[in-house]
Amino acid sequence: MIRSPLSVAIQIPSGEQSGQLRDGLVELLDDAVKAGASIGFLDPMSRDEAIEYWERVFAEVDFGRRLLLVAIQGEDLLGAIQLSLAQLPNGRHRGEVEKLLVHTSARRCGLGTALMMAAEDAALSRGRYLLLLDTRAGDPAGKLYEKLGYIRAGVIPGYALSPSGHPHGSAIYYRDLRDCDPQMLGENDAPTRDFP
Ligand SMILES: CC(C)(COP(=O)(O)OP(=O)(O)OC[C@H]1O[C@@H](n2cnc3c(N)ncnc32)[C@H](O)[C@@H]1OP(=O)(O)O)[C@@H](O)C(=O)NCCC(=O)NCCS
Repeated sequence: MIRSPLSVAIQIPSGEQSGQLRDGLVELLDDAVKAGASIGFLDPMSRDEAIEYWERVFAEVDFGRRLLLVAIQGEDLLGAIQLSLAQLPNGRHRGEVEKLLVHTSARRCGLGTALMMAAEDAALSRGRYLLLLDTRAGDPAGKLYEKLGYIRAGVIPGYALSPSGHPHGSAIYYRDLRDCDPQMLGENDAPTRDFP
């Protein structure tokens, strides 16, 4: 089904609100692992593993250590992204983008890009202007990040296992959002980009 990201709402739920989205998030993770994404789990991933993972995420959201953004269309949770907020005093300008997930039914409509941009805005509004992330080397996600201006710092060979259990390299990316080109921002994004 083709869906436009324009009709999708991107929200930043609290830890408690996130809990209400648990089933949709479990399904989103399961969909990605089954489709072969290297996002920390082996296939098959049990429902209990997925629930335990999301409960840890909700707890970190509650503690203010992590942001969870979700893309919702009607009753459907179509995507999610997380921003892990460095806690030590020398890293409070930094955040790590994790688990960018778009449901297989909604891919290639710009939703992954929209989630990244929403995560960037959320990061900037909290003073986090240096973003890091990693992804399986050679995955299409790398293209998405590069289009958004992320710089590939390098590849760590054999960093993780694919869902099939085979080791793969991971590419590490970063972006200093203070360098961002205003042309790359959505019309509604520009006012939130106040740099320290
Ligand atoms: C990576 C992912 C989030 C992309 O989501 P998406 O909504 O399809 O991304 P977009 O539609 O915004 O794509 C933006 C660009 O990225 C590139 N891209 C995305 N998916 C691609 C694919 N399967 N093949 C080639 N290029 C791709 C394209 O350049 C695309 O622009 P285009 O459609 O104009 O050609 C999605 O495929 C996904 O959830 N994958 C599994 C989880 C994962 O690997 N997450 C990232 C690492 S943690």
